[in-house]
Amino acid sequence: MTDRTTAPPEAAARARALRREIDEHNRRYHVLDAPSVSDAEFDALLRELVELEARWPELAAPDSPTSRVGGAPLDVFPRVEHSVPMLSLDNVYGAEELAAWRDRLLRALGEPETPLDWVAELKIDGLSISLVYEDGVLVRGATRGDGTTGEDVTPNLRTIREIPLRLDGAPAGRVIVRGEVYMTRSGLARLNEEREEAGEAPFANPRNAAAGGVRQLDSRITASRPLRFFGYTLLGVDDLDRQSRALERLAEWGVPVNPEWRRCESFDELVAHCLEWQERRHSLDYEIDGVVIKVDDLERQAELGWTSKHPRWAVAYKFPAEEATTKVVSILVTVGRTGKLTPTAVLEPVEVSGVTVQMAGLHNEDEVRRKDVRAGDTVVVARGGEVIPQIVRVVKEERPRGARRFSMPKRCPACGSEVVRPEGEVAHRCLNASCPSQLRERLLHWAGRGAMDVDGLGDKLARQLVERGLVRDLADLYELDHATLMGLERMGNLSASNLLAALERSKSRGFRRTLYGLGIRFVGDTVAAALARAFPSMRALEAASREELEAVEGIGPRVAESVREFFEREENRRLVERLREHGVELERKGAPAPAGGPLAGQTFVLTGSLEGYTRGAARAAIEAAGGRVTGSVSKKTDAVVAGAEPGSKLDRARELGVTVLDEAAFRELVGDGHVAD
Ligand code: IVH
Repeated sequence: MTDRTTAPPEAAARARALRREIDEHNRRYHVLDAPSVSDAEFDALLRELVELEARWPELAAPDSPTSRVGGAPLDVFPRVEHSVPMLSLDNVYGAEELAAWRDRLLRALGEPETPLDWVAELKIDGLSISLVYEDGVLVRGATRGDGTTGEDVTPNLRTIREIPLRLDGAPAGRVIVRGEVYMTRSGLARLNEEREEAGEAPFANPRNAAAGGVRQLDSRITASRPLRFFGYTLLGVDDLDRQSRALERLAEWGVPVNPEWRRCESFDELVAHCLEWQERRHSLDYEIDGVVIKVDDLERQAELGWTSKHPRWAVAYKFPAEEATTKVVSILVTVGRTGKLTPTAVLEPVEVSGVTVQMAGLHNEDEVRRKDVRAGDTVVVARGGEVIPQIVRVVKEERPRGARRFSMPKRCPACGSEVVRPEGEVAHRCLNASCPSQLRERLLHWAGRGAMDVDGLGDKLARQLVERGLVRDLADLYELDHATLMGLERMGNLSASNLLAALERSKSRGFRRTLYGLGIRFVGDTVAAALARAFPSMRALEAASREELEAVEGIGPRVAESVREFFEREENRRLVERLREHGVELERKGAPAPAGGPLAGQTFVLTGSLEGYTRGAARAAIEAAGGRVTGSVSKKTDAVVAGAEPGSKLDRARELGVTVLDEAAFRELVGDGHVAD
């Protein structure tokens, strides 16, 4: 400690320089999609600034990037009045209703001679928020609330990296930016996986997850959620004449704007655009529930004005609900690899927007009870943000007499052991470590594409191996021989040889994937990658103390505890030892990603599914060659790697003239070998 109370000029200058540099990196990363430093370099800059501001608090500015870290919990949210009310939109369904809306508009404008131009934007399904900037600096952010008064959630919104703390080039005075906080489907899937592992209730859809994330009293929780932002309204700027210009201006200032907006000069073009997105909505990694149509000319907007509830100059073209009605045949309870019991509704097959649905996820007992789903019920199912469809509601009037309320079984449906619901968890668990169902799921996880990728080891084979007692743990897989395999159902000479060859290959997937494959609780793909970067081998990880684990970026106490618990168990240490004896690679090979690799400085975007690579493996291959993978296509993208069923990113690449690689070209580029991970 020194006795100085005011910051020396060098510190102030350094803080300013750091802030500028960090802001620029943020902009390059989030807006331009062209980062120029690694995450680690970025974190080092941020850390230096946090330390400077902690040492000399007067250096902390409201727009400092450090304010994104998240602060102490609040008791309640302060209320704020919106200077311009946040109203909602009127809805139309289908082209006919849209035409009727247009006719009303034209009548209200006295049938103008010059035709109207429209702006069509995707209707992002999230939580709308309003951001107030004074002289370009974010001073407040609020939820919509009742439209007149919202909740001040500024500390939370500051933690969302896509929300700019400063607008680059905004005029002096007050400017308001409105838009949608949302969560991607993939972000939600990862979050839910973690929540279920932790025994917490999963979110039913991305919108609930986004709303839950923003309305947290503890902003550190918001900071840990994968929240994103798209801006669509700009208020308080005099020299704007069109909504399309407002969107461009927002983007110029560093606000993420959904790239799929379009200016339409004819009504037919507008309708075609709506229908196109109705078809394509599932190709996006975020949910949209319609297209918002706005009159482009702001003067005409002003002329049309507002009703008490919504603007007359805009409307939401809502997609038809993707729902269907069917019957619940039974409620099946399965046991996962960590022993968690999951109820699933088995349905009479029904078609929902072109896909046959026969299962619906029910997550846990509380969820089944909340919805009160019973075997025999008629239910409405919907394809929401998750891959597995959800039950929206039960049609109670059609419930058969005597339908029984659901309860979790008292004994494990696979092994008959006692089922417990640990204190504070929503999940029920079977605690028997040698439960055949858990074992089968552990084998499948180990054999999965993101882990050891053992071709041919699927559900039926795993079941047989476990039932016949041929495999009692992961290491037993490597003791299987040709003759034993030949004794199994539907196993010929060739498939037995192929399986043995696949098992052999699986031994050299590298430390990260092996670690992930072990299925340690809370050690998903990302955590395994962080651990494998920090520790060179399984031995080093095994020897790491809780403190050493927690010192790793991205590893919290929960993960540290779980890793320690895993290695404290004699049977797990023995398992790892046996895997080692069988030649499974448990060390990190080679050096970290070469800074000057063949793809150094190049940016890639992945879309669709590749046959020979999981997303993680494709990313690892690019990174190992020095390249970078980002989420969205821009002019700066060097190439888009497109697999089967590519999404809108491919269209975007074509639009921008970005190189597109198919799987064969990609394989050639990164080399076919396995990546050092
Ligand atoms: S404009 C008065 N544009 O839809 C006009 N809204 O019911 C204000 N939304 O509360 C909204 N994407 O949460 C607009 N591109 C978009 C939008 C959008 C999603 C949401 C917003 C609003 C609701 C309208």
